[in-house]
Amino acid sequence: MDEPRGEDLLQITDRRTGRSYDIPVVEGAVRATDLRQLRLDDDDPGLLVYDPAFLNTGSCRSAITYIDGERGILRYRGYPIEELAEHASFLEVAYLLLRGDLPSPDALGNWTRRITQHTFIHENVKRFIDGFHYDAHPMGTLVSTVAALSTFYPQAHLLSDAGLRREQVLRLIAKMPTLAAFAYRHAMGLPYVYPDDDLSYTGNFLNMMWKATELRYQPDPTLERALDVLFILHADHEQNCSTHTMRTVGSSHADPYSAMAAAAAALSGPLHGGANEQVLRMLNTIGSVDHVPEHIRRVKAGEFRLMGFGHRIYRNFDPRAQLIKRVADDVLAVTGPSPLLDIALELERIALQDEYFIEHRLYPNVDFYSGIIYSAMGFPVAMFPVLFALGRTPGWLAQWEEGLLDPEQHITRPRQVYVGPAERHLPVPTS
Ligand code: ACO
Repeated sequence: MDEPRGEDLLQITDRRTGRSYDIPVVEGAVRATDLRQLRLDDDDPGLLVYDPAFLNTGSCRSAITYIDGERGILRYRGYPIEELAEHASFLEVAYLLLRGDLPSPDALGNWTRRITQHTFIHENVKRFIDGFHYDAHPMGTLVSTVAALSTFYPQAHLLSDAGLRREQVLRLIAKMPTLAAFAYRHAMGLPYVYPDDDLSYTGNFLNMMWKATELRYQPDPTLERALDVLFILHADHEQNCSTHTMRTVGSSHADPYSAMAAAAAALSGPLHGGANEQVLRMLNTIGSVDHVPEHIRRVKAGEFRLMGFGHRIYRNFDPRAQLIKRVADDVLAVTGPSPLLDIALELERIALQDEYFIEHRLYPNVDFYSGIIYSAMGFPVAMFPVLFALGRTPGWLAQWEEGLLDPEQHITRPRQVYVGPAERHLPVPTS
């Protein structure tokens, strides 16, 4: 790291002691450990940074995803999300996230071939899925089966071997669609459909989801491409809750299957991967375009939030939402019109010109339209977080490996501000 120049120093005067400190500012950040020198006396362990939920803490240096929330910018390895959604496939984006550059045509062929070789799961995993209750939530099944994979690949814990790491990465990307589709078919009581290696990554996933009695399933190319684009839009989003979980579990040198199961578990929460489900419920509750103004009135009265609006990082627009809106048009041209989309468009139209939403800088986020698309394609609401997990897999793995290889990283271990009782003692027993 470059030495900070004179002007890249933050001068702090500790008014408790009257002492001044020059703290280096590098890449727009100060090191929290540099603040430890601000001490009251020799017994003082030093100043602690208190940051619940990490609202202003950089936990790593990363070269994978760049977000500028004010300007609505999202880039993977420098490439704007708009260009990737227009011109790349999900497997190319996965390669980009993991390897740092887009693949050459030869490299893409090889990458696709190797992933395709790994799409089958061990028959025991299938039997393991059979053991889940008939109405098991597919996200619970997915989390458990991803974790179970570690027992099939005992070499996965040999993290210093780059070849073995890559092997697990390929397996996870390849097997996620199979696990996801099997989790769904188990919940529906349907027979499992084995992978068809002649189809694309996303086409094969659709095959494993929807194949019925036909000899060969042929995905609709528009729906296949639409889902591929949705996976691209979800592939990474820097240090969100599940990615942070992936890095944290990975920092203890747990194997990648265990780390990814933990990441998927984090994603399953309604505050993270479950928002599009809430959007769909909201649109169904509104019921018709006529009821939209009343719904907006109640949102403004503070009765509830407009689901699919607002984002912690994006303050002017979510670039993914704009792309997804176009995908929705393509999908509905195939599946037929959706009254839910009409309600969503009317909500968006009214909200975007309303003082409350303008003042609070509330715009549609990625989840506002994704649920409508998934639903039009036939996915039940319970599968929404599973689809999110499938798309996020390469991002999780790229971030996991970056964390492992970063010499500055150690096992994640935050500190705390202790607010419990001071030392006290058990009562002395009286005889
Ligand atoms: N509808 C109405 N008002 C809202 C909304 C909303 N969707 N979102 C925020 N506000 C208001 C809050 O009431 C608050 O108003 P106040 O200052 O007058 O009290 C103000 O905007 C700030 O709200 P915060 O909760 O502090 O904003 P934060 O940045 O922490 O929240 C979040 C972001 C959680 C996404 C929020 O906007 C929200 O709850 N949205 C609806 C749920 C949703 O769509 N989540 C998906 C996010 S995208 C993803 O996770 C992939």
